[in-house]
Amino acid sequence: MLKQPAMLRALLIQVAFVVPTIALAQEPTAAGGAAPAAEGAGHADQHVDWSHWTAGNEINNRDSLQRGARNFVAYCSGCHSLKYSRYSRVGQDLSIPDEQLEQFIVPPGESKNGYMLTTLSTADGEAWFGKAPPDLSLIARAKGTDYVFRFLKTFYADPNSPTGVNNLALPGTAMPHVLSDLQGVNAGVFREVEVPAHGDVPASTKAEFVRFERYAPGKLSEAQYDEVVRDIVNFLDYVGEPAKARRISIGVWVVLFLFAFSGIAYLLKQEYWKDVK
Ligand code: HEC
Repeated sequence: MLKQPAMLRALLIQVAFVVPTIALAQEPTAAGGAAPAAEGAGHADQHVDWSHWTAGNEINNRDSLQRGARNFVAYCSGCHSLKYSRYSRVGQDLSIPDEQLEQFIVPPGESKNGYMLTTLSTADGEAWFGKAPPDLSLIARAKGTDYVFRFLKTFYADPNSPTGVNNLALPGTAMPHVLSDLQGVNAGVFREVEVPAHGDVPASTKAEFVRFERYAPGKLSEAQYDEVVRDIVNFLDYVGEPAKARRISIGVWVVLFLFAFSGIAYLLKQEYWKDVK
């Protein structure tokens, strides 16, 4: 008799809680809130929280590293060197067969035993971009993989910049958006926010980033572009510490060996001591 009203009450309570929760979840997130980060182009005035995007790369994912190496060579090495990496070592570490290494990674006319140097000279880099493109050997360690991921994802059109683009992660960057044919070109939507007076500093306004709007489409979807960027970041992570993947896999074997050896050592001890007792 009592059971049914009790169930009904439970159901009502659930509805009472769940419905507002859904409504809350759908509320446009205010500035600083966690907006759905996957898509660069948000809706309405939803704030895109790009500064919390993470690369999510996996250093043990060999396919991703191979794709990253190939894309780095195709899109980045025209300007950036990896001066501590030899093509042959990269081939070995990432299990790239020799003929594919020659075909996709080693530039024509270069030796596979050479270092991964760009043909762009420092002087030309400075003349063309106002700043020589840096060697990227240690960029993933120096600034973090997430940073490089955000840098490659947050270019937006800016008519005041000599390259036609600006960047949220590195405002005023001298680097052109070299992946724009893949990603497309975004326009940045900003809003003016008041900065209240603070001590001697009078009140002012500043432009705060809200979201991206697709200006011109690229060849890839947002998810596919993320994948390309993630692979390149993964490759740069590997380049920053080439032994990392190998170290992790060797570590597993070392621990297994130690376990097995403890067993053998114990048996040996039994054998040696059985006559002494
Ligand atoms: C056309 C030349 C050019 C190409 C191609 C190029 N870059 Fe750059 N890159 C630059 C320049 C110039 C800078 C210096 C930017 C600055 O400091 O404002 C730079 C800087 C960088 C930085 C350092 C940012 C920082 O915080 O200091 C990273 C990371 C980077 N590039 C990654 C890449 C990747 C990855 C690719 C390939 C997808 C690539 N670049 C292709 C010219 C290029």
